[in-house]
Amino acid sequence: MKSFVVLISGRGSNLQAIIDAIDGGQITARISAVISSRADARGLELARAANIPQIVIAAVPGQSRDAYDRALIKQIDALPVDFIVLAGFMRILSTEFINHYPQQILNIHPSLLPEFKGLHTHRRALAAGCKKHGASVHFVNAELDSGDVVLQAEIAVQADDTERSLAQRVLQAEHVIYPMVIQWYVEGRLVFKNHQLFFDNQALAAACLWKNQQLVLPQA
Ligand code: GRF
Repeated sequence: MKSFVVLISGRGSNLQAIIDAIDGGQITARISAVISSRADARGLELARAANIPQIVIAAVPGQSRDAYDRALIKQIDALPVDFIVLAGFMRILSTEFINHYPQQILNIHPSLLPEFKGLHTHRRALAAGCKKHGASVHFVNAELDSGDVVLQAEIAVQADDTERSLAQRVLQAEHVIYPMVIQWYVEGRLVFKNHQLFFDNQALAAACLWKNQQLVLPQA
């Protein structure tokens, strides 16, 4: 069975959705450890409750990104790990880290990438008057929030949406699409050949879409 680590920094609701998906048999892999960049991350309690080993790697003041990431690599490489899942890990990873795990790092970002990379995505989507918003599961490459997008959940923005209400609906969708993509990866349905991402042997020219509780595959 494949193993993965989940990297977190905070609340851990995506971590919980992944744990639930494993318990429910929707993900057929195991979490070898949850690694947090913060000792006070609530997600650590969720890991503890699920009997998953918890590891805290807090940044030492003055420590460089490279030094932190090397400590992270050392820890991860000591575990049985086939791939890495970022779930609210609030650190930018170094190129060295990313190159150490080529095409083996998944992330979820709360926007319809390439729109709204970075922080405060819901506020920015509302300010921009977007009619659609959502979340994206993507592979991590050396550029922030820029790797191949596998699946996006699309949410309609309501006239009376606040940052909070929108964030809540997007988060609910995150909890559906992240376990889905993790299982695709586990089953070997997502494969890179010559830097091109394939899904079920079809080159993925655009992201798959999760809309109105349905999966829409891009046209071949
Ligand atoms: C989510 O909004 C996710 O898209 C982003 O960080 C947040 C993590 O939330 N990358 P949680 O810790 O999983 O509740």
